[in-house]
Order: sequence, then structure tokens, then C-alpha cells
Amino acid sequence: MNIRQARVDDLQGMQACNLQNLPENYTMKYYLYHALTWPQLSYVAEDHKGRIVGYILAKMEEDVGSEDEQHGHVTSISVLRSYRRLGLAKRLMVQSQEAMATVYRASYVSLHVRKSNRAALALYKGTLGFAVKDIEKKYYADGEDAYAMRLSLKYLS
Ligand code: ACO
Repeated sequence: MNIRQARVDDLQGMQACNLQNLPENYTMKYYLYHALTWPQLSYVAEDHKGRIVGYILAKMEEDVGSEDEQHGHVTSISVLRSYRRLGLAKRLMVQSQEAMATVYRASYVSLHVRKSNRAALALYKGTLGFAVKDIEKKYYADGEDAYAMRLSLKYLS
């Protein structure tokens, strides 16, 4: 399975993958905004026929107060069901994190995840070393709480 930077012509495949895997969905305009503004931060996993089987959609945080440091944010990541547990999400995360640190000098990466999402929590906490920074009550449209998580990227700079 190949991992490479996402291109504009991948965005429909990324959106299709997102619609299959997650209830949090985005307009094509929002995908395009990510790809055009931070082209180095979003990646796709493709099969041998070039079909998109996973993606990471990521950005730099724009509302950075004077107290806060430059940081990246994972908007969405998912892998199609039959391609899970192959290490693809880990590879997608690591590629994006490296680009956040080297291209944009991000000092950390943040994300939100449902409290009930065991697989994603195992990936973030166990495999990648993220820590829970906060609990955001009723963050999701259906009322579920989110963990706001962070991982320092200082080891990459
Ligand atoms: N149960 C327990 N641990 C898991 C699981 C699971 N189902 N999935 C991954 N992990 C942990 C394991 O430690 C795994 O390492 P191992 O396989 O050597 O044990 C490690 O994470 C790395 O797993 P990957 O193979 O890289 O993860 P995968 O490619 O399967 O993708 C993902 C994980 C993205 C969470 C996938 O299950 C998925 O697409 N889920 C639905 C969408 C989703 O929940 N996305 C995240 C939402 S939050 C956000 O987007 C910011």
C-alpha cells in the first residue's frame, strides 16, 4: 500500500472514504481549502490500482492566540474497513506530523476524538503517544463528548 501527499484530484476519493467511515462529513469546498492552503499536510493511502483506501486531512490551526504556539490539527483520518490494522493510519499520521513540524514549525499537533472511539484512542494514545488535554462536552452533533488530544512535535525539530 502506497502513502503519498494528497492532490486536488484525490479529494473526491477522500470524501467518499470519509462518508463510508465517519458521521463527521465536510463540503468539497472544505477539502479544497485544506489541499490548497496546506498541501503538505494531507495524505492518501492507495491500493495497487490507485484507489484511495485511507486519508488524513490536516491543517495548521488558524486561531492561534498570542499565548499559544503554532500547531497542526488533524481534521479527519480514516481507513476503509478491509484495510485496517495494516499500519496505514499510523503511517498517515506520522507523515503529516513530520510535515507540520518541518514545513510549518508546529510545536504540537491537536485533534478531537469521540470518547467511545476505542480504535482511534488506541492509535493516538497507545501507538503515537498523544495525551488527553481536555474533555469537550457535547462536542459532536449527536451530543457525545470529545477528548481534545495533543502530541508534542518538538522531538522532530
Ligand atoms: N482496536 C484496538 N487497537 C487498535 C485498533 C482497534 N480496532 N485499530 C488500531 N489500533 C491501534 C493498535 O495499537 C494498532 O497497532 P497494531 O495493529 O500493531 O496493534 C495501532 O493502533 C495502529 O493501527 P493502524 O493499523 O495504523 O490503524 P488503522 O489503519 O486500522 O486505522 C482508524 C485506525 C483510523 C481509527 C480506523 O479504525 C478507522 O478508520 N476508524 C473509523 C474512522 C475513525 O474513527 N477515525 C478517527 C476519528 S478521530 C479524527 O478523525 C481526528
